[in-house]
Amino acid sequence: MSEDRFEILLYRPYEKLIQITIQGKPFAVPENNMLLRCFQFLAPDTIPYGRYCWNEECQYCRVSAIKPDGMALPQVLSCKLMAEEGLEILELSAELKWNLHQLLNPDATEIPPPPPPAE
Ligand code: FES
Repeated sequence: MSEDRFEILLYRPYEKLIQITIQGKPFAVPENNMLLRCFQFLAPDTIPYGRYCWNEECQYCRVSAIKPDGMALPQVLSCKLMAEEGLEILELSAELKWNLHQLLNPDATEIPPPPPPAE
């Protein structure tokens, strides 16, 4: 299977990348995709190994965010939130912090402890 074919299956069709920020840092992600899938686009070596159900059940994908129109989203599931140009991600769940640590802290020399096990 070619890499292009893999992307077609993994991501909803997109023609361009849009800008979002995660804790103040800008990133380009594919339009027309849920935020968790965009996190996977940015961190393909870690997000697939997170404990995500991708279906509103586990709650491990929670974030807080501000939409481009200024609307605050204090607790939202990134597996159900469509990414949009200018979306600001403020807080990340412990699972997302773990999976996005290297992306958000490229110069870090220490790896934080993993999130606690599921209850
Ligand atoms: S990934 Fe499980 S609720 Fe979003």
